[in-house]
Amino acid sequence: MTDEMLLKEAKKARECSYSPYSNFQVGAALLTKGGKVYLGCNIENASYTPTNCAERTAFFKAICDGEREFTKIAVVGGKKGEDAKQICTPCGVCRQVMMEFCNPETFQIVLSDGNDGCQSYLLKELLPMGFGPNDLK
Ligand code: THU
Repeated sequence: MTDEMLLKEAKKARECSYSPYSNFQVGAALLTKGGKVYLGCNIENASYTPTNCAERTAFFKAICDGEREFTKIAVVGGKKGEDAKQICTPCGVCRQVMMEFCNPETFQIVLSDGNDGCQSYLLKELLPMGFGPNDLK
């Protein structure tokens, strides 16, 4: 699965975004080591703080399905009614969730560049010196 293909899946997921408060729609597509793709969208709440980001929705769906090994995640976000014309980087909470389940040296985060291209980062680049499960061993 190429980065471009995974981004396309993230765009599909974005269509399901429930974001009546921010009107900012985000989609994510998470690739497992076995080749399965889990989609996630942001899900907001009238009480605001229970909001779940697209990335975490994808992770929690996959974890609940028994998946534990992941290769990369694609993320696309932008204002409702518009194509995602900007880079949407994962928030700090989502980066920490990735740190729980992914190897920061190899896990890739694929972001739309706002045009038709994409950029790819390693988790260790977006979360330097991250605290993870190995620190508790
Ligand atoms: N959001 C995501 O789903 N993922 C990100 O990477 C950044 C932000 C959501 C949370 C909220 O529903 C909306 O975007 C505005 O912050």
